[in-house]
Parts: sequence; C-alpha cells; structure tokens
Amino acid sequence: MTSERKDNHVALAMDQNRGVRGRNDFDDVELLHHALAGIDPATVSLGTTVGGVSWDVPFYINGMTGGSTSTGEINRTLAIAARETGIPMASGSMSIALKDPSQIPTFQVIREENPDGFVMANLGADHGVDNALRVIDLLQADALQIHVNAMQETVMPEGSRDFSAWPATIEAVVAAVPVPVVVKEVGFGLSRRTLDTLAGLGVTVADVSGRGGTNFARIENSRRAGGDYAYLEGWGQSTVSCLLDAPSGFPTLLASGGVRNPLDVLKALALGAKGVGVAGTFLALAVDGGVDALVTEINRWKEHLTQLMATVGAPTVSALAGTDLLVRGSVREFCELRGIDAAALSARSAGA
Ligand code: FNR
Repeated sequence: MTSERKDNHVALAMDQNRGVRGRNDFDDVELLHHALAGIDPATVSLGTTVGGVSWDVPFYINGMTGGSTSTGEINRTLAIAARETGIPMASGSMSIALKDPSQIPTFQVIREENPDGFVMANLGADHGVDNALRVIDLLQADALQIHVNAMQETVMPEGSRDFSAWPATIEAVVAAVPVPVVVKEVGFGLSRRTLDTLAGLGVTVADVSGRGGTNFARIENSRRAGGDYAYLEGWGQSTVSCLLDAPSGFPTLLASGGVRNPLDVLKALALGAKGVGVAGTFLALAVDGGVDALVTEINRWKEHLTQLMATVGAPTVSALAGTDLLVRGSVREFCELRGIDAAALSARSAGA
C-alpha cells in the first residue's frame, strides 16, 4: 500500500512536470540588464557553502523518492546523474524503510552509485532522534532533510492530522545528529514566522520549498475518492515570495519549488538562496530520458548558469545577492502587504 503511494506520487508528479511548464512567480522577477556589466566566465565560480560544507555547484536534486522497486530504479538514475555531474542529492522520505526493511535497498542505491557525493537522507518531522540517526547511518548521509508538510498530510487520505509535536521533535533531532539538518517544505513555502521559529529551535539551514512547481495539494487530492480538497490547490507562498519574506539574519536559506531552468536558479540565488533544489523538473528528465538525458541537462544548466553569472557581472553566488532586481505583479503586491521594500531591490548595485 505504501509502496503503491510512492509509485502514485511519481506518476502524478510526472503529469505536472512533463513538457511545457506554466508560468510561476519566478516570471515576476527580472534581473535589471546592465549591458556593460559582463566579466570573463573563466573567473566565475559556481561554488557555495551550505551548513558549513562547500558545494561545487549551487543546485541539487531535491528529496523525492524510494520505497518501491520502480522508485528504487529512479533513485539509481538520479544518483548516477548526481555522481557524473558532481551535484548534491537527497533521498525521498525514508519512513517507509524504517517500517519495512525490505525497502532499504531502494534508498541505499543512492549511496552505492555515488560513494563520494553529497547525499542527504530525508524524514518527516514526526520522527525522533533514533530514527534520524538510523536513516543517516543507512545512507552514510552528509546531511538530513526534515520535511514539514502539514498541508500535504491534511489532504493525503492516510495522512497525519496532529502536527503539534513537530517543533520539539525538530529541536531534539537538530541537537542530537552529527550532520547538518535542512528543514524543508514540500511546495507550500516557509513563512518569515516559520523561519524565525526554526532559528529558535537551532535550525541553521532551511529550504523554503514554495508554491509554483509540483503541487502536492493536487497530487494528494487526486488520490482521494471524492476529490474533496480541490479548493486548496492555490495554498501557500511561492518560492520567490518566501525568499523575499525571509528574515535577513537566517543563516542559510535554500530555495526550491517551481525551478524550471538555469534562469530560475539565477533568480533564486539573487534573492538570497545559497543553493537551489530541483525535484519535478529533474524527475521528468530521469523518468522519460534516463541517465544520459539528465546528465546532459544538468551539465547544460551548469554551463548556462556560469555564462549568466558572467553576463550579469557576478563572479560568485554571494555577489549575485548584490544584483538589481525588478519585482512585478502579484509578488510586488505580496511585498507591499508584508512591508518589504521591493523598490530598493532595483538599485542594489548603485554606487558599486
Ligand atoms: C517530492 N518531494 C518530497 N519532499 C520531501 O521532503 N520528502 C519526500 O519524500 C518527497 N517526495 C516527493 C516525491 C515526488 C515525486 C516529488 C516530485 C517531490 C517534494 C520536493 O522535494 C519539493 O519540495 C517539491 O516537489 C517542490 O519542488 P519542485 O518539484 O517544484 O522542483
């Protein structure tokens, strides 16, 4: 039953991520074009630092799957592509492997195929320290993702309903595990208040994972007999809105949700993310095109991102946070309502 859920999630996510992608809030953000800003691409570094660890590339394969035979094979494809391109990768939730040890190999394939890569294990916020240590050990993981997915669980027919223990559990896990912990949403976004709360719990890395890409309200709703929750498909804040809303002192922000191309990566980094997670877009390539298609595309993203950074005159990921941004449309309205000075973003490089 649970393995079947894993297969369903992939099939339904494929329906949303295959082919031409719709517009999302990344389209409301533009980098102001300065025609003489360009630098030599040979001087551009894609390197970044996340949770005190250096990554060569500032985007990664986000947590998706494992827990059935076919999703184990998807994990193999993703892991080989991560190895061949040198990008970090997360597993899907390993909760199923804790309940049914026969599914452990469908996750461990990630480490087997990529012995030296940066690998993140993944669990929900209802799991305590022992389970967290167990999944880190199973993958020899370099970091642990904890997903906070209250709205997904609410729409999921067999989902959890009481989330009140999550803050205390997260605090205990962060204090106990030997690797960096990344707290993430699954496509509904992390608000300023949530990020402030997480900081108080000792969390230093958070992936806002906002609205705009894979839509888990829609996925879970179509798994219900009655389709009762269709009205929740617009719930949550977009990835772009979350980055704008984030408290300025939060140590390390990651961004995911609706990242479709290298320009979306550039925009997320310019909005302050230190790394950018990609789930649905890479899943579609992995499932439809296999390792070769995914490796080719990831290498193209690395090349394009380097060239785009050179064109806007940013030699590093940190330098992108000083580029001029135009914020339009509904994102601008979000900024007004939340007291964020969107106009100031358009003149960040003035005087530089
Ligand atoms: C996910 N995602 C996810 N996240 C998580 O923390 N644990 C999980 O087990 C899963 N499972 C999962 C399955 C599938 C098929 C997809 C496509 C996604 C959520 C994922 O990490 C990400 O937060 C969202 O999908 C938003 O990013 P994209 O898909 O818009 O790039």
